[in-house]
Amino acid sequence: MSSALLQLSGPTDLQEIADRVIHQDFREACPLLPRSFADLLILDPPYNLTKNFNGRVFRAQEAEEYTSWFESMLATVLPSLRPNASVYVCSDWRTSTLVFPVLDRHLHVRNRITWEREKGRGAKANWKNNTEDIWFCTLSDSYTFNVDAVKLKRRVLAPYRHEDGRPKDWDESANGDYRLTHPSNLWSDITIPFWSMPENTDHPTQKPEKLIAKLILASSNPDDFVFDPFLGSGTSAVVARKLQRRYCGIELDWEYCCWALKRLEAARTDADIQGYSDGVFWERNSLKDQKLLRAKAPTTQELELFDV
Ligand SMILES: C[S@@+](CC[C@H](N)C(=O)[O-])C[C@H]1O[C@@H](n2cnc3c(N)ncnc32)[C@H](O)[C@@H]1O
Repeated sequence: MSSALLQLSGPTDLQEIADRVIHQDFREACPLLPRSFADLLILDPPYNLTKNFNGRVFRAQEAEEYTSWFESMLATVLPSLRPNASVYVCSDWRTSTLVFPVLDRHLHVRNRITWEREKGRGAKANWKNNTEDIWFCTLSDSYTFNVDAVKLKRRVLAPYRHEDGRPKDWDESANGDYRLTHPSNLWSDITIPFWSMPENTDHPTQKPEKLIAKLILASSNPDDFVFDPFLGSGTSAVVARKLQRRYCGIELDWEYCCWALKRLEAARTDADIQGYSDGVFWERNSLKDQKLLRAKAPTTQELELFDV
């Protein structure tokens, strides 16, 4: 598949980079991209942790060193953004403390989303680290936020009714009682890709499609341009394609680029995003109800494997 990869040697235009994966160091590729083309930037850089990305080890650094790496990276990617663009930055709790002051200097920081990883290694003398952050920033006060596109479908625990018996703020159906709730900055409905999920690859820090779908649906519109200079296994590009957005991704590792291309090819015929169906995000362990709603009972195997 690698013949479909792009490597830049001179200035490019939008047509050349639309819906493409660039196999290159972002520091080399970014200055060659058109200016002000992206509506949404998804930044999932190496965190300040020692991590092996297919043989290239990113080493944890002193705080000042990581901060200056992060700031120079941000300065390299920001010229690609349109004035009304949004920026999401992923990090772990410790890296977050370094990332925030830099973002605060260059952007309008609007929120910090914390999502529960669900899986995590227990610690003997500390609390298990089970969360990650995503900083939500914009370039200006004018930006896209489609709140109705990212509502969460939750089971109703206290089914209050009006005096005449009608459900209050929730829907009653043979498949269960649900309420559509406004999305908060605490996400506990995400499952990280595991071996039995179709989206899973061997990338060590792959993000869930459902998580990226929330960012893309909230902060872009169909046909907008999603830019990801640390593409990894291709999650943001795949979700952009599934949601009819354009994309451009950069990734240093050749094999990861090929995994991204493979996933992008599959996304041409299968636009499913696990945990997102019928235009809403469902809480965890609701696959049975999602299928019932579509009048298609899940198989026992599906329930065991994919109930996220
Ligand atoms: C945290 S991972 C991104 C994972 C991605 N979000 C996904 O869902 O698969 C960071 C990625 O940045 C890539 N990377 C590191 N340094 C880079 C550089 N200088 N230029 C481009 N990519 C780089 C790594 O190879 C790694 O795949």
